[in-house]
Amino acid sequence: MTQSTWHDEKLIHAAIIMDGNGRWATAKGMPRIAGHRAGVQAARRVIEVAPDLGIRALTLYAFSADNWKRPAAEVRGLMALVEHFVRREVERCERQGVEVLAVGRRDRLPRSVRAAIEEAESRTRRGAKLTLRFALDYSSRDALVQAAALAGSDCASREAFAYALASVYGTPGRRLPEVDLLIRTAGEQRLSDFLLWESAYAELHFTPTLWPDFGEEDLRAAMSVYRQRNRTFGGLDEGRHALPALPAAPNGSQRRLA
Ligand code: FPP
Repeated sequence: MTQSTWHDEKLIHAAIIMDGNGRWATAKGMPRIAGHRAGVQAARRVIEVAPDLGIRALTLYAFSADNWKRPAAEVRGLMALVEHFVRREVERCERQGVEVLAVGRRDRLPRSVRAAIEEAESRTRRGAKLTLRFALDYSSRDALVQAAALAGSDCASREAFAYALASVYGTPGRRLPEVDLLIRTAGEQRLSDFLLWESAYAELHFTPTLWPDFGEEDLRAAMSVYRQRNRTFGGLDEGRHALPALPAAPNGSQRRLA
């Protein structure tokens, strides 16, 4: 994930706060876990189409460090979904050139979840089409504190600090991907301790769509809006804005994974 391979104007790092699973389920008279299950399907749809829409890295906020406060049954359910998803998708990821990584604390995750993730990371490490990161037991502020302690007085530059942060995430030696586009679903407009350092210049996109209803068209719409944004990074407009429009969606495209 070096700058030269993908961090240009066409290939981006998108990060998603997948919110609204509980509301989706409640509105249908279903238990919250049914919303999370539907949320997994939405994640699969997005992962499948992301590379075609110019996304080279995708970070999904699957479980925050604060989510441990939820009822034990919901936490268990979420962990089981993550494990099941990772185990089930690893082969496809390997085949399709998707590199799987987890960011966040690992020591509090159930052993079987950790094992599934580690296996996926090791099997997919050569994937070059998409880097798919799951933020799990993740807190950006905790990561920043740890990185500061790790970097200590060596932390002379932003670049050096970004490497320290990558080490905290378990990807030492790799430059941290800046977030280009941060999406949050379900109408909330906050960051919830997600990728605070990496999102310094992220374009923010909020949509009322509940995460389980999110699909290719929503991602396409978010990318279209992103491509019209004028990103000057604090400088002056030097014609960096208005990337070419995305190619039209193929007919009847609501692609599904097999
Ligand atoms: C927020 O919705 C969502 C979460 C806390 C978990 C997100 C997890 C998944 C989509 C499942 C795991 C994903 C993968 C890809 C393995 P909420 O429960 O806070 O919704 P609410 O605000 O409507 O209650």
